[in-house]
Amino acid sequence: MRIVLLRNWLIVVLATAIISLSLIPVGILTTPLPDGNMPENRSTFHIEYALPPPADIHMPFEQAMARRMSVREFTDEPVTDEELSTILWHAYGYRDDGSRTIYDIGGVPAVGIYVLKEDAVYRYDALNHTLVLYLDGDYRSIVGWQYEAPVQLAIVQNEDVCDEYLGCVQIGGVYQNIQFTANALNLGTVVTGEVPSPIENIGLPAGEKGRIVMPLGHPRYPYNFVYRPMWLSFLPRPQESDVSLTDAIIQRSEGSSFTGTVSTQEQSQLLWSAYGFSYYLDRSGQDLNIVKRHRTVPSAHGYYPLKVYAATESGTYRYEPNLLININRIPIDFIGSPILPFLLKITGDDVRGELSLASQPPVASAPLSLVIVLDIDMTRPPGRDDFSGMWIRWLWHLEAGSCIHNVLLQATTLGLSANVFPVTDDSMVLSLFGLDDGYDPMYVIPIGER
Ligand SMILES: Cc1cc2nc3c(=O)[nH]c(=O)nc-3n(C[C@H](O)[C@H](O)[C@H](O)COP(=O)(O)O)c2cc1C
Repeated sequence: MRIVLLRNWLIVVLATAIISLSLIPVGILTTPLPDGNMPENRSTFHIEYALPPPADIHMPFEQAMARRMSVREFTDEPVTDEELSTILWHAYGYRDDGSRTIYDIGGVPAVGIYVLKEDAVYRYDALNHTLVLYLDGDYRSIVGWQYEAPVQLAIVQNEDVCDEYLGCVQIGGVYQNIQFTANALNLGTVVTGEVPSPIENIGLPAGEKGRIVMPLGHPRYPYNFVYRPMWLSFLPRPQESDVSLTDAIIQRSEGSSFTGTVSTQEQSQLLWSAYGFSYYLDRSGQDLNIVKRHRTVPSAHGYYPLKVYAATESGTYRYEPNLLININRIPIDFIGSPILPFLLKITGDDVRGELSLASQPPVASAPLSLVIVLDIDMTRPPGRDDFSGMWIRWLWHLEAGSCIHNVLLQATTLGLSANVFPVTDDSMVLSLFGLDDGYDPMYVIPIGER
C-alpha cells in the first residue's frame, strides 16, 4: 500500500515538474528586438515559450474542407496549449523537408502570426515552434473587438520581402489551414478583416502590415452537420479520399511539369475544392451565422466574387458552383438550397498555348488549368459596401489564395501535380475567355499527372 502511495506521489511530483518546465522560457537573451514603434510595455528581451508537439489531424482532407464554416460565438472554455500548438503548426509551421505548411508563392515566406492570450501578446516562431513574448498585457478586446474569444490570432504580412498580392495569397492558405484545423478539433474561428487592421494598435515592427484577425475558441453552438448533398449534378460528386488533413499538408508539393490526363471525376473534385458548396448542411443554429450551406472558402461579406475558369484540350469552360447563387448579386446561401454545379462551355478551342504565354510555359502542356478571375461587379452589390477599388484589391487576392491552397491540397490527395502562376498578360486572358475589363484575371493553376 505504501509502495503504491509512494509511486503515486512520485508520479505527481514528476508530472508537476514536467508541466512547470514546459512553462519555463526556453531561452532568455538580452538582445533588444528590432523595432519601429515600440509601446511602453513591449517586451525588450527575447523570452520564448516552448509549445507542446503538434498533433496529427486524421480527418480526411475533403471532410475538413466540407466542414469549413465561420464561428463567431464562443464559450469561456480555454484553448489548451496542445490545441494551439496543433493549429499553429498546421497554419504556418515547418515541415520535415524544411518548407512551410502553405505554398510560399513568390519564394519568400511573408506571413507572421501573433497570438493574443489573456496574459500577453506572443509571436509564433515557426522555426522553433515556440511562442515569443511580444507585449505584456491583455489586448484581445482591442485587437479582436468583433468577437470575444479566449484566444485571438492576428495574421500580418511582411511587406518588405514579397509582392503585396503574393503575400496575400500566402495568407489565404494560412487562414484556410487555421479554419480546417480548428474545426476538426471542434474549436471554431472566423476570418475577420478590417482596414486598418486592429492588430496595428499594438505597434507592429516596421514593414509589417496587419491583415486578418481570427478569434479562436470553443463554439457556443456545437457543430451539427447533416450530410445533404441534394445534388442534381452534371458533374461527378466530390468524394472523400483516405488522405488526412495533416498528410495532405505534409505531402503538398508544387510541380514544374504537367502531363497525362485529368479525369472528369478529378476535374470536378478540383473545381469543387476551389469554390464549391459543401455536401453538408449546417444545423448548428448559430445566432451570428445565417449561412446554411457553406463553401470551401470564406469570402469577405460573403460576396464570393471569383469565377473559376478551366482550360483543357477540348475547350474553355466556366465553373458554376450552383445553378442559383445570387439574386441581384446578393448571395442566397442562407437557404441551404439544393446544389446543381456545372461547367459552362465557352469555346471549343484549345487555348493552353496562349494561356502559357499569359502566365508561365509549363501551362502549355497541362491537361487542365484552372484560371481564377475576379468579377469586379460582384465586389459592389447594390446597397452594400463597395470593395471594387484598387485600394482594396488585395482582399480578393486573399480569397484567391484560399482557393489556390485548396486546389494544391486537393491535387495532392488525388496524386496529381499542381502549381500556381500569376497572370502576366491580363488582356490576353480576358480575350481567351471572352471577358471584358469588368474582370481581373489573377492566377493560373496548371494540373496534371506527376
Ligand atoms: C478576407 C475576409 C474578411 C472577412 N471579414 C469578416 C469580418 O470582418 N467580420 C465577420 O464577421 N466575418 C468576416 N468574414 C467572414 C465572412 O463573412 C464569411 O466567410 C461569409 O459570410 C461566409 O460564411 P461562412 O464562412 O460561415 O461560410 C471575412 C471573410 C474573409 C475571407
